[in-house]
Amino acid sequence: MTSAVSESSKTARLVLEDKELELPVVVGSEGEVGIDISSLRSQTGAITLDEAYVNTGSTRSAITFLNGEDGVLRYRGYPIETLAEHCDFLETAYLLIYGELPTSDQAASFREDIRHHTMLHEDMKSFYNGFPRDAHPMGILSSVVGALSTFYQDSMDVHDPDQVEVSIHRLIAKLPTIAAYSHKKSIGQPFVYPKNSLSYCENFLHMMFSTPAGDYEADPDFVEALNLLLIVHADHEQNCSTSTVRMVGSSNANLFASISAGIGALWGPLHGGANEACVNMLEQITRDNGNVQKYVDMAKDKQNNFRLMGFGHRVYKNRDPRATIIKTSCDKLLQKLDLKDPLFEVAQKLEETALRDSYFVERKLYPNVDFYSGVIYRALGIPVQMFTVLFAIGRLPGWIAHWKEMHADGSRINRPRQIYTGPTRRDFVPVDQR
Ligand code: CMC
Repeated sequence: MTSAVSESSKTARLVLEDKELELPVVVGSEGEVGIDISSLRSQTGAITLDEAYVNTGSTRSAITFLNGEDGVLRYRGYPIETLAEHCDFLETAYLLIYGELPTSDQAASFREDIRHHTMLHEDMKSFYNGFPRDAHPMGILSSVVGALSTFYQDSMDVHDPDQVEVSIHRLIAKLPTIAAYSHKKSIGQPFVYPKNSLSYCENFLHMMFSTPAGDYEADPDFVEALNLLLIVHADHEQNCSTSTVRMVGSSNANLFASISAGIGALWGPLHGGANEACVNMLEQITRDNGNVQKYVDMAKDKQNNFRLMGFGHRVYKNRDPRATIIKTSCDKLLQKLDLKDPLFEVAQKLEETALRDSYFVERKLYPNVDFYSGVIYRALGIPVQMFTVLFAIGRLPGWIAHWKEMHADGSRINRPRQIYTGPTRRDFVPVDQR
């Protein structure tokens, strides 16, 4: 394992009109090169312009390595495939947040800390009465997580490690409970309290599917599939929601407020909301007699806003390794359950058709993590509106790890600049003369 980041002896030379500037070059532990432009404005008056941050490194980070050209994803140096095979979600969360895989004592103590906090304050339950029955669970999740800050005012100091630690445990423990309650609310069933004798994933399924009127025992295959899905979603370096969490956290906003903002960012269909949008799209294609070519043509048509959901990625220009893991698991689960889901067949047909099409080949658009995840969630009986909520539960350790790393590195408030394109100074015109 090598993890050094060097200020390399290389420099980049930038010429702007009559000024020439030497800029330091930073090289990451995997050889990635970044040109440090932080002195550019003070030396030249110019800023860099990179709309949508396509080419901007916002931070140095030791959490996740991603190589989109080669389809590589590693958490703290460990390949995602290895973690998916050998770890459970809480071990993976520990790895992301604390930097090392836990020893058995550390794992036991972490699990105990999480179990200790699984219940919601009874007063929080009354929030759910205020939401309409058909409220989207992502809206509920974001609101209730934000509201945790009103209940735990004793742990809001972002510079106090003990307060941060208890907030981390509370968030990881309570997010599944908050999520399951939002589902119960939507179907008019009573909330089911967490059961601490169960594992993290078993407990979530228990809160989702058991009722006071009957027994429920989670199918071990379901638990395994859920565990895997949470692991592959656990971090993805500086994606939209993680950057949001870092951005909000950089103002020294508390962890609950920062995570609540991240949940909002994840909700969008171009990000985590793609899993819900993808299943809706696959259902539509299935109803349309499985006519995948029609939808591939629509996605290529520049006059049409339609995109193939679950396809394409800002960073992956090759197969998304998470999609490969999920597709294999999906195949296995459907076979084990002896389920023939027409959506899975449509998804496979759509993938084959798109990957043969020069539009998708030239733009390097492959299925991403959200393409097959919805098919597994359906097989587990999870309603479609809950798909992005599952993504949020999975992504939580990544958000926390980045928030923590940012504070540990003593980051300054994040504050991008802009190139102003509005009117230059104008004289005020009184209302009767406009
Ligand atoms: N269907 C059709 N065309 C596409 C698609 C798609 N799904 N994705 C990208 N393109 C085209 C796009 O129109 C553009 O074409 P052109 O060069 O002719 O203008 C080109 O490919 C590049 O696309 P872009 O929008 O500039 O790429 P981006 O990096 O800004 O966007 C993306 C990445 C993921 C938002 C985009 O691929 C997309 O909208 N995909 C569908 C939504 C989706 O599946 N999101 C989940 C992402 S993975 C989970 C997560 O981590 O969030």
